[in-house]
Amino acid sequence: MRPPRLHFLILTLLVSATFLHTSAAADDNDNDADDLNNLVFENPSLRKVYIALQAWKSAIFSDPFNFTANWTGPAVCSYGGVFCAPSLSNSSNRVVAGIDLNHGDIAGYLPPELGLLTDLALFHINSNRFCGTVPNTFKKLKLLHELDLSNNRFVGTFPTVVLSLPKLKFLDLRFNEFEGSVPIKLFDKDLDAVFLNDNRFKFGIPPNLGNSPVSVLVLANNNLGGCLPASIGQMGATSGR
Ligand SMILES: *[C@@H]1O[C@H](CO)[C@@H](O)[C@H](O)[C@H]1NC(C)=O
Ligand SMILES: *[C@@H]1O[C@H](CO)[C@@H](O)[C@H](O)[C@H]1NC(C)=O
Ligand SMILES: *[C@@H]1O[C@H](CO)[C@@H](O)[C@H](O)[C@H]1NC(C)=O
Repeated sequence: MRPPRLHFLILTLLVSATFLHTSAAADDNDNDADDLNNLVFENPSLRKVYIALQAWKSAIFSDPFNFTANWTGPAVCSYGGVFCAPSLSNSSNRVVAGIDLNHGDIAGYLPPELGLLTDLALFHINSNRFCGTVPNTFKKLKLLHELDLSNNRFVGTFPTVVLSLPKLKFLDLRFNEFEGSVPIKLFDKDLDAVFLNDNRFKFGIPPNLGNSPVSVLVLANNNLGGCLPASIGQMGATSGR
């Protein structure tokens, strides 16, 4: 008669573990909602930033240098690594224009809530341990100028969401685990610098490579194939930057 009891015990443990886990998660959510209703923000944009950064903080599992330790409360402009500037649409409002967590050795992932950072011009998180993929909500970052995700643990296919960022000039994806093909549309975009090296991309050199105005393009240490296209002679010729 012992084995059935043992099973029952294990099942009970599993059920209570699940229950504890669920109720802890529910408590977290309640606290977040309470916080949000009780906090006073300088303007609605900074309230959205708070939601985004708290979601990000919950998606961080290790922060050995305490870069995000002071990410609490409504004064998001004084959070470590967060930079505010006057809004382009109303200069009397401060908005978050930059995030710089370079060399933080932070482990975690990028939650979809980061799409709420719609005033962001710079997003620099090089030399961390961020994993997973780049959320599609990044398409809302219409002012993003510089995206540096280099030296992290991002995986999956090329983050095509970057193709929809109208202001993007600097794209650094080097030293990650991105794989598969690189969309040839990337080379039609008005970018200044693109670093794709040290990933697992597999691509033939695209025929439109010469259309790209970039002054820096690094593709090394991928699985490159193909020959250099005739269009390469035009590269950067019209950029004037
Ligand atoms: C980060 O904060 C923790 C807890 O307060 C502390 O023990 C640790 O020394 C801090 N690390 C650094 C690099 O300051
Ligand atoms: C949070 O940390 C950053 C960098 O460590 C520092 O510049 C900032 O003043 C701190 N903010 C607060 C509110 O302590
Ligand atoms: C700019 O923001 C300020 C402060 O929030 C507000 O009082 C003002 O009406 C805004 N101006 C415009 C043109 O929206």
